[in-house]
Order: sequence, then structure tokens, then C-alpha cells
Amino acid sequence: MKVGFGSDHAGIELKLQLMEHMKEQGFECVDYGNYDPDDREDDYPVPGRKVAEAIVRGEVEKGVLVCGTGVGISLAANKVPGIRACACSEPYTAKMTAMHNNANIIAVGSRVVGRELAKMIVDVFFATPFEGGRHKRRVDMISQIEKDYSGRSDD
Ligand code: RB5
Repeated sequence: MKVGFGSDHAGIELKLQLMEHMKEQGFECVDYGNYDPDDREDDYPVPGRKVAEAIVRGEVEKGVLVCGTGVGISLAANKVPGIRACACSEPYTAKMTAMHNNANIIAVGSRVVGRELAKMIVDVFFATPFEGGRHKRRVDMISQIEKDYSGRSDD
């Protein structure tokens, strides 16, 4: 499977460690930035959006995002229609969001979880298939919300 990775400065080190970990398991990993851990002015919505758009374009199948908390970067990714990004701090949620929400991005916080826990989170996320059935109906309802609001603006 081809997987897109993205992080802001706070997440670069952990992102590179997770990419290495997943490459060892045979995943094809693409880094969508950011690249400079010293650039504290970089903005997490940029890599969050890049990875999300790469998934929607079909360039990669799923994504891994890392920022300080995993929250900001997943919020940005979730604004792209078709994306279901889950910020996660433990493996149970990672498993359930794959199984029930058909999440296509897992996000972790480099200031929240350590390297080994982050590896467990991505491992269980990528090992767990979507269950479908009644869960598909609910995921379709999420997509319907996106459709209902498409073309609207707050202006
Ligand atoms: C950057 O300092 C930090 O705000 C960012 O990495 C992330 O935690 C945002 O949600």
C-alpha cells in the first residue's frame, strides 16, 4: 500500500521514524512535508491538506499525519471532502476508527505519544479492515453532510 506522510516542525522527527518503521513492513511511503524541524513558523494546515488531497486524487491510499497534538493537522485534513482523519493517542481508537469509521488518515501527536506507542497506533490502524455493514450507512451519512454543505461559505 502507498501511504502519504505529513507533519509540521513539531512532528517531523516522529514522522520520519514512522516512515522508516512502515517501509520496513513493505509500505511505499511518500513524504509531503514539512521538512525543516527548525522552521517554527511553518503551519500544520499545509501538510494536512497536501496529504488529504493526495488521497482524494488517488495518489496514495491512506495517510499518517503528525503535529504536536495530532489535532490541528487532522482538523485541516478533515476539511477536504472524502477525508476521515482521526487524531489518536492509543491503539484502541486507532483500531475502531479503521473498523467503524473507515478512516483514511491516522494522526498522532509527537508531544503526546512516544515513538513506540505511535508505532503501535499506526500498526493497528493499517492492519484493521473496515467492517462495512451498518457502519457504511453511518460513514455515508458523514459524506452526505459534506455534500449538503458543499458550495456554501460563511461570507
Ligand atoms: C505547533 O506548535 C503546534 O501548535 C502544532 O504542532 C499542533 O499541535 C497543532 O494542533
